[in-house]
Amino acid sequence: MEIKSAVIPVAGRGTRFHPVTKVVAKELLPLVDTPILHHIVLEAARAGIQRIVLITSKGKTSLEDYFDSDLDDDLLRKIDIISVRQGSPRGLGHAVLCARPIVGNEPFAVLLGDDVIDSEVSVTRQLIDASQRFDGSPVVGVMEVSEEDSCKYGIVGGKEIDKHTFLLDKLVEKPKPGTAPSNLAIPGRYILTPDIFPLLENATPTLNGEIQLTDALQALAKKRKMYAYQFTGKRFDAGDKFGYLEANLHYAMKRPEIRERAKKLILQMAKELE
Ligand code: G1P
Repeated sequence: MEIKSAVIPVAGRGTRFHPVTKVVAKELLPLVDTPILHHIVLEAARAGIQRIVLITSKGKTSLEDYFDSDLDDDLLRKIDIISVRQGSPRGLGHAVLCARPIVGNEPFAVLLGDDVIDSEVSVTRQLIDASQRFDGSPVVGVMEVSEEDSCKYGIVGGKEIDKHTFLLDKLVEKPKPGTAPSNLAIPGRYILTPDIFPLLENATPTLNGEIQLTDALQALAKKRKMYAYQFTGKRFDAGDKFGYLEANLHYAMKRPEIRERAKKLILQMAKELE
């Protein structure tokens, strides 16, 4: 079944980017001149997604305005943007549950705005293809992380059944050092089936008093087959100051009008820093 909807939770306050996020939504911070959210929505559009469900909150109407502006991109102009409010910050699991009335009884993608992934084939497309190879089963995108970084992510455990593909039996949110089931982390890309909704509805808050999507996924993995796919692409943690800087440099290098000057500047700075 083709996947029509992608849910993008954007209700977060962006405290890691204060002071700018006191007045600017963190999803509108630019990579060179293009907002982070533009990159995320484009990834979804390139995967064939037709409808974006933004889960927003107070102070985030600029995100809707952005997509109403005259965007010079045919793919983006074709996509429907719908927003749903998350009244209070109750966690990622709760944010995804807010999309239920729009998504209905169909499979859907989830893309987290802090993770920007540059790839030849849209990562969301790579995951939809993986899901279709397994009769429409849920699939999470994974990447390798170091042991010390595993406490920042949802981590999966399972067995490799095919190239880059794992059948899952464990999903743990931010495991304590030394307890991670593997070195495979979920950087915010999911293909989910609607049977996740009742699990989210009945979930109890855990880590930080929030309803965690990873906990509901663990419950789902007990009921049906679920997979992880190690995608191909370069991922940036745009929700972190250093990752944001790295993403900006990466995208600057892809812009012919500034590439050479930016390269010279970086080499010059590197010399001065030696
Ligand atoms: C969220 C998810 C986590 C995932 C991460 C990816 O955590 O809860 O499972 O690995 O995003 O960025 P957050 O970074 O919002 O704390």
